[in-house]
Amino acid sequence: MENLQNLKITKNDLGLIPAPQKLDLTEGFFTGNLSDVKKTLKSSDKELSPMEKEAYTLEITPSSIEITAKDEAGLFYGKMTVKQLSMIFENKIPCLKIDDKPEFEWRGFMLDCCRNFYPVEFIFKILDAIALHKINRFHWHLTDDQGWRIPVKEYPLLTEVGAWRNDCRYTWEEKVGGFYTEDEIKAVVKKASELHITVVPEIETPGHSSSVLAAYPNLGCTGGPYNVESRFGIFDDVLCSGNDDIFPLYEKVFDTVCRLFPGPYVHIGGDECPRTRWENCPKCQQRKKDLGLESTGELQSYLTVRFAKMLEERGKIPIGWDEVLEGTEKLGLPKSLIVQSWRGLSGGETAAKLGHKAIMSPQTAGCYLDYKHKNTPLEPGMIGITTLEKSFEFEPTTKEMTAENKANVLGGQGNLWTECIYSSKLAEYMIFPRLCAIAEKLWNCEGNTDYNNFLERLNIHKKRLQKMDFLFYNGN
Ligand code: ACM
Ligand code: ZN
Repeated sequence: MENLQNLKITKNDLGLIPAPQKLDLTEGFFTGNLSDVKKTLKSSDKELSPMEKEAYTLEITPSSIEITAKDEAGLFYGKMTVKQLSMIFENKIPCLKIDDKPEFEWRGFMLDCCRNFYPVEFIFKILDAIALHKINRFHWHLTDDQGWRIPVKEYPLLTEVGAWRNDCRYTWEEKVGGFYTEDEIKAVVKKASELHITVVPEIETPGHSSSVLAAYPNLGCTGGPYNVESRFGIFDDVLCSGNDDIFPLYEKVFDTVCRLFPGPYVHIGGDECPRTRWENCPKCQQRKKDLGLESTGELQSYLTVRFAKMLEERGKIPIGWDEVLEGTEKLGLPKSLIVQSWRGLSGGETAAKLGHKAIMSPQTAGCYLDYKHKNTPLEPGMIGITTLEKSFEFEPTTKEMTAENKANVLGGQGNLWTECIYSSKLAEYMIFPRLCAIAEKLWNCEGNTDYNNFLERLNIHKKRLQKMDFLFYNGN
């Protein structure tokens, strides 16, 4: 460190990720006490956009550190920049002026805690790390075929049965899994709120529902029996769209979710739902007839509309994966529904054209962190490859989009599915440093286009990841 501080410092030596919009180095170093950082909230009489709330200026002189913002969120991001600097420079921080503001309001990270269950301590660790990268949404994937992770008092079997599976990775007789207690969920929400992160819980419907069906087999088309899945993939047994008993259960699930998660959003899944059972189920076919639907596929939009309405009634904004756009000919979609694009960007583009807000997390364009870092059998991960450079190339909007459509794109997300991510250490290795690149693009996509410049800063930034005890991929 001494060496670095005796040399002329360059902007990239600061290793700031995401790079600030505007940064000027000035003379000297601040060597005072970091607890004396001065924070000034400038009042604003006009309504601020989410990005204006997160904007801040930071001035470091030999005798002071001052953060100025129009909202607590901006003061917080100024503090995160100071934290990044202090992690490298400790008590001798280069003097500078920063004027900074995010480009996108939705800067997200999703963790699948169903395919593999992670203890709450790991969630806390992840929250600290994503906040340091100025990520402000934690999308918590809480239900799937392989496990249901949130207790619902009125339907205790969701966790008593649905949270546990037989798994050949362990002894077949021993169930594996787990769930987060209410106290743990409250602690996650509290910590996230202190870090200006909104937690977005995901309750998957109507597919990826084996854990619900194992607990309450009457909710499936065949009546079961069903198992909490130990295999990974897409399964034909989904919620029966013709069975009215599914609604009281999800009313209670959403009561619980809305009580525990104060943020405005709840994700209702919607991806990868086969129609096989619906085609052959008398109840589903009766529903189709009653609604006058042309195709069985439209039953999905029937369910999307019902679940979205339940959330709207509770004052929440529903989110669905891009499949929710299909089969909507007759029943449409509620305008409030946000579409999360994962099969490329096209779902998000269509949604934005239709006037929906969209979140971009394209599987093959840098956002899927379950993919291997590198194309070699030695690397852990799923089918595809997401190189660090590919994550850096991620852009939430496309040139083809009109300004009006672009305005509907809230931002983007890195997603970690965990079918083969057997431990939190391995999860860290998959997340970093690709999420650093995604964070960089979501903060300033237009300005941060120089990959080599990013790599230079990342070299410094890796020391922060090490200090926070994160395992990360160290190649390009
Ligand atoms: C997804 O990756 N199935 C949303
Ligand atoms: Zn059915």
